[in-house]
Amino acid sequence: MKFFIDTANIDQIKEAQDLGVLDGVTTNPSLMAKEGISGEENIINHYKKICEIVDGDVSAEVISTDFEGMIKEGEKLAALHPQIVVKIPMIKEGIKAIKYLTEKGIKTNCTLVFSVGQALLAAKAGATYVSPFIGRLDDVSTDGVELIAQIVEMNSYYGFETQVLAASIRHTMHIIQCMEVGADVATCPLSAILGLANHPLTDIGLEKFLADYKKVNG
Ligand code: G3P
Repeated sequence: MKFFIDTANIDQIKEAQDLGVLDGVTTNPSLMAKEGISGEENIINHYKKICEIVDGDVSAEVISTDFEGMIKEGEKLAALHPQIVVKIPMIKEGIKAIKYLTEKGIKTNCTLVFSVGQALLAAKAGATYVSPFIGRLDDVSTDGVELIAQIVEMNSYYGFETQVLAASIRHTMHIIQCMEVGADVATCPLSAILGLANHPLTDIGLEKFLADYKKVNG
């Protein structure tokens, strides 16, 4: 299971990379805005900076909603760095753009996916990743993890190569649940990744080990 970090915050990306378990980064226009990144040149430089920090795929989202605009933006983003994955929304024009970019050898991440039917279209179009938003489904009383399970099963049954990238992960338990149903990737806030390391018995055990060492070694 791959871990991506879902942020455009450079400090958090560096901290996750330093852990040695990071496989990539996902961003979106909201996350870029949260960091105050605006203007084409700044946005481009920010993506390049992220690519220099991490080794894996970095999702950069298009703003256009028409086919021509999406492929123009997508080709420009992909040319920035070999690690860039073009993030395209799950809309009719987006499906066409994913198909086009895939045929050009450009990696894509189909975003804003909320149903297995949408994931089927993303896979048929050849998306590298499909991003179901589990937290936002949970927010409207729908089981987000169940959707991950359905998509994983569909991909396995039909042999689709599109990787299931669980997005809109809000907490550590979401990561565990996605792992249990076979998500290929979880893109997470740093806090959710760090939460995996926590256990009170680890803290108590370590405290005792160190105290016992001190007793005999001073
Ligand atoms: O990966 C998608 C993510 O950025 C959306 O998360 O918490 O806004 O639903 P959230």
